Amino acid sequence: MILFITGTPGTGKTTVSKLFKEQFSFTLVDINGLVEDEKLYTGIHKKGYKIVDIPALCSKLDDIINNLGDGEDLLVEGHLSHFCGGADRVIVLRAHPDTLGDRLQDKGFKDAKIAENVEAEALDVCAFEAYQEYGDRTSEVDTTGKNPEEVVDIIKMIVDGEKTSPVGGVDFSGYLGS
Ligand SMILES: Nc1ncnc2c1ncn2[C@@H]1O[C@H](COP(=O)(O)OP(=O)(O)OP(=O)(O)O)[C@@H](O)[C@H]1O
Ligand SMILES: [Mg+2]
Repeated sequence: MILFITGTPGTGKTTVSKLFKEQFSFTLVDINGLVEDEKLYTGIHKKGYKIVDIPALCSKLDDIINNLGDGEDLLVEGHLSHFCGGADRVIVLRAHPDTLGDRLQDKGFKDAKIAENVEAEALDVCAFEAYQEYGDRTSEVDTTGKNPEEVVDIIKMIVDGEKTSPVGGVDFSGYLGS
């Protein structure tokens, strides 16, 4: 099983993926770390973040996937993962924009960056992009009001085919008019 976990920054990809890996012995690749270690960026944006070389990232992920051992399960986490191929299933983590704003504040994000991400979350940007790439192999999980352990359980049910959670089930668009 090759599982990608994506979502707007602060939706909980890293927190949930670490727990998932511990419980179900998946090999974990964190895209932020991979980009850093393998220098998969083309430069630094004037806002300070690294401009990721997506083709190079996807090619590196292809290498990792092609070198998996027999029966080895892989979990790739990062908000750019859905731009790359190779996943059997893509999980988009979601969080209500108010909750997301609080989490990003706790993570020390600047106000402008918080506003940008909150808006992207309200507009379903990640879910839409992932769906474009992966169609019905994409699922959404709302983390609002849940703890990370509950989110891990839901993802496991989706992976095992015991639950469907198609894109479109989470709708924060009302937030934009408020
Ligand atoms: N149900 C939940 N699932 C995941 N994280 C949660 C949940 N509830 C609260 N949190 C908190 O939200 C924060 C999520 O941060 P985390 O670094 O995991 O997000 P991320 O999606 O990896 O962000 P980034 O894209 O910036 O790496 C953590 O502080 C975590 O404890
Ligand atoms: Mg993270």
